[in-house]
Amino acid sequence: MSISVQATTESNARESPTCRTPPAVLARVPAVRSLRRLYPYARPALPALIGSAITATLAMLCGLAFPLVIQQIIDGPVAAHDRAALWPLAGLLLALGVAESGLFWIRRMLSARPIMRVEAAMRADLYDRLQQLPVSFHDSWSAGQLMSRAVSDLATIRRFMGFGLVFLFVNLTTFIVGVSILLALSWQLGVIIAALALPLVALCYLYETRYQVLARRSQDQVGDLATLVEESVLGIRILKAFGRSGHLSRQFLARARQLRATELRKASVISALWAVIIAVPEIAFGLTLFLGIRQVADGALSAGTLVAFFGVALGLRWPIDSIGWLLAMSNDAASASQRYFEVMDAPITITSPEHPRATGSSARGHLRFSDVHFRFADAPASPDLLRGVDLDVAPGETVAIVGATGSGKTTLTSLVNRLYDVTAGCITVDGVDIRQLDLPALRSQVSVAFEEATLFSASVRENVLLGRPDGTDQDVLQALRVAQAGFVHDLPWGLETRIGEQGLSLSGGQRQRLALARAVVGSPAVLVLDDPLSALDIHTEAQVERALRSVLVGTTALIVAHRASTVQLADRVALLADGRITAVGIHSELLDAVPAYRDLLAGREDHQASRASRASQPSTRTAQVSR
Ligand SMILES: Nc1ncnc2c1ncn2[C@@H]1O[C@H](COP(=O)(O)OP(=O)(O)O)[C@@H](O)[C@H]1O
Ligand SMILES: [Mg+2]
Repeated sequence: MSISVQATTESNARESPTCRTPPAVLARVPAVRSLRRLYPYARPALPALIGSAITATLAMLCGLAFPLVIQQIIDGPVAAHDRAALWPLAGLLLALGVAESGLFWIRRMLSARPIMRVEAAMRADLYDRLQQLPVSFHDSWSAGQLMSRAVSDLATIRRFMGFGLVFLFVNLTTFIVGVSILLALSWQLGVIIAALALPLVALCYLYETRYQVLARRSQDQVGDLATLVEESVLGIRILKAFGRSGHLSRQFLARARQLRATELRKASVISALWAVIIAVPEIAFGLTLFLGIRQVADGALSAGTLVAFFGVALGLRWPIDSIGWLLAMSNDAASASQRYFEVMDAPITITSPEHPRATGSSARGHLRFSDVHFRFADAPASPDLLRGVDLDVAPGETVAIVGATGSGKTTLTSLVNRLYDVTAGCITVDGVDIRQLDLPALRSQVSVAFEEATLFSASVRENVLLGRPDGTDQDVLQALRVAQAGFVHDLPWGLETRIGEQGLSLSGGQRQRLALARAVVGSPAVLVLDDPLSALDIHTEAQVERALRSVLVGTTALIVAHRASTVQLADRVALLADGRITAVGIHSELLDAVPAYRDLLAGREDHQASRASRASQPSTRTAQVSR
């Protein structure tokens, strides 16, 4: 499976072909409001953050005290040539230095752990939310979007809390204290520094904001480029076979050029920023130095005071430069927070009712569709896909669903365990609307196997027992028998063999048989199979069908089928067309009476004949060690 980190900007989303729908454009929310929402998460770390801010402020004040001690030294012992008086002051300098470094160390120790904990908690909540959000949410969000929120946005928030927020406070305090000292030392010179500081902060903020826009764009473009490389590596056989390598190289080159252009613009913005950061203070210093030296010459200012003035002014350089980018960092954290809460606020539309009802009566697995309508949330403009499906499956009965490609068979099957909710009408199990049942209970009663057999990076046993963690080995073996998945015993570690993305790779037919085993394990009341035998060769299919027959005897089942042989497993067949069940009956009756049904299955018979001849060739269905 390819997970591509997707573009976050509007323009990129439009260009990128793998993004299913453009990510929602962020509505303008005041930065402060977005940041305030982080408070509940930050609260446990608050004592540490306050401690961290206090220690950092004390450390900065130590730094500012330094030049003042030097002033005393110059105007005192140095001017008076008094060696003895030098020692206590030198000792004081040493103490200040030790205190400053010690305080910085304490600050780091204080904040690192609690802040990491905040990030971990937020990430855990996000993961939890993603698990609970309905399938319709995941339909409209690309994996890349969710990944970037879970990884880079949370890292941005952590940096803001642990560093940005603390230093915004510390540096503002340092600035205010420092400027007060400067004004006290010499108010004329102090005014110059203070007056030039404000435009500098504004300019830094402006440039930083521009820089961040470019930085984000460059990140997106790197992501696009990586996606392109990933896809072309994974699809290399197809690309070669269709002679598209040259086309892709050109595409790659075009994107690489875009990235280069962005990087160059980044470089030009950052160089302008540095020019400002260096030039403005130098101008201020030059001006104050010029005026200061004249004042010293006139005797209006002591030499020690001038040195102290410059010492303090130099110490204010970083706080002043940084305020701009700390503000920009806050902005970035605000939008990261907004993006985070966009996912956290997405409604969980499919939930257990407050007072779930127990399934009634002794009847087990009576499944009924009554006037079921359905439309995908991300296709609001199109007509309903299902427009009044009526179907009654008696307890223990097996009904096959037959319909053209795209007629909504898969969709119909995903309604039964509420992967999607019907938009009108209702589905009942044993007479109770499935929306009134406890969700986990419903999902343990209704077992499904989808067309696309998804296996996880885990052992065969864990994959089969996915929905029934308390199942025994006996259950697993029984299910494997039904699914004709005897090949498991030939795997290097039997049931313990790791399969899936990071384990042994299995053939399509093997995957389907494991998915089928997963569906039938622990004898569910209702079994929903979406064309579960499509990837099997005709002999295995016949074996699986024979074994399935024994399971189906006691189970209510809905089986999407494409082939006559699968259809024959069912007691009755329902034809899905135009969003409705247009015919229900026994296979042979429908063949005779319903031309549409005959057409659908007849096409398949030819197809099946050709498959049969292929299947008689030696098969190579052995597990291969994956990359
Ligand atoms: N998540 C979705 N959002 C919007 N449309 C969808 C979604 N999933 C499927 N569809 C559309 O619904 C129709 C029925 O799909 P499906 O139920 O998979 O058909 P079938 O299984 O009968 O081949 C198709 O036209 C398909 O494009
Ligand atoms: Mg389908």
